Amino acid sequence: MTNSTFTEIAGVRFKNPFIMASGTYGFGKEYSRFVDLNKLGGISGKGLTLHPKAGNKGIRVYETAAGMMNSVGLENPGIEAFLTKELDRMTAWDTAILINLGGGTLDEYREGAALIEADRLRRERDNKRGADMIELNISCPNVKEGGIAFGIDTEAARKVVREVRRATKLPLAVKLSPGAKDIAEMASMCEDEGADAVSLINTFSAMKIDVRNRKSVFANGYAGLSGPAIKPIALRMVHQAAKAVRIPVIGMGGISSAEDAVEFIMAGAHAVQIGTYNFVNLRAGAELAQDLVTFMEEEGISSLDEIRGII
Ligand SMILES: Cc1cc2nc3c(=O)[nH]c(=O)nc-3n(C[C@H](O)[C@H](O)[C@H](O)COP(=O)(O)O)c2cc1C
Repeated sequence: MTNSTFTEIAGVRFKNPFIMASGTYGFGKEYSRFVDLNKLGGISGKGLTLHPKAGNKGIRVYETAAGMMNSVGLENPGIEAFLTKELDRMTAWDTAILINLGGGTLDEYREGAALIEADRLRRERDNKRGADMIELNISCPNVKEGGIAFGIDTEAARKVVREVRRATKLPLAVKLSPGAKDIAEMASMCEDEGADAVSLINTFSAMKIDVRNRKSVFANGYAGLSGPAIKPIALRMVHQAAKAVRIPVIGMGGISSAEDAVEFIMAGAHAVQIGTYNFVNLRAGAELAQDLVTFMEEEGISSLDEIRGII
């Protein structure tokens, strides 16, 4: 019998629709002490850049009324170190592995994608499993153009998607920013440029002020808001993106239960990601996957295709 929650995106098989969101799961190792990672649909690793990054100074995470803010600043070991030191451990797990790729300039994105492609070819030659998909994070500030995120403007984002698409044959999901001027237009552009999927949304730019110190809590001023607070907006954006494209949509933003995930699937998502909720429940991925099966049995749903995009 095929698994009722199985889903496929660009030929990549996900045993259930739950992918652990980038930046909330490291490269899986720490969570493997608490949860059987083989039960997850997939893992999107911490965002990687061409060169290692130390991340931001000062306070990096802050709890809010219904979620959290983060200003991690893409701390990561760099693509090369990830490919040589981390990827083999990840591919040993029976779950889909997404490489989340960031960058501050077009050249950085291009060179980063080229390194990942070279690794893919090496592994193909050696008959060794490699990463399943690139998740391209276009929310990064464009350092050459004054720090405005690539993901806000469709034409700026187009350049990144085009370069990365040219650089690699790996399935490509483009991760959209909620700051995009027009989310439907942004998703369509990704489809036109040859992306295999879009994932959305990344965090919302937000702020917290320490009134005693009369300063922003975060050294960079603003930080990214995630968690239940953003879920209704994320759902609306996923719905708009799913209506605009034929490629699969991966939805996220505040998902904390199987029913939250069902909402995103009804809005048109093929798969979903769990981010902030991983910090609340270390076993979130495996538990929600099981809860989804229970929900489907209760509702008499035999396949996610029956409910996908019904709204
Ligand atoms: C601490 C933290 C770090 C994150 N780092 C990344 C990252 O490196 N790359 C990325 O694309 N998204 C990153 N995100 C965004 C999440 O992957 C996700 O898009 C967002 O948090 C919304 O989902 P959620 O509400 O379920 O957390 C990060 C989020 C958090 C909370």
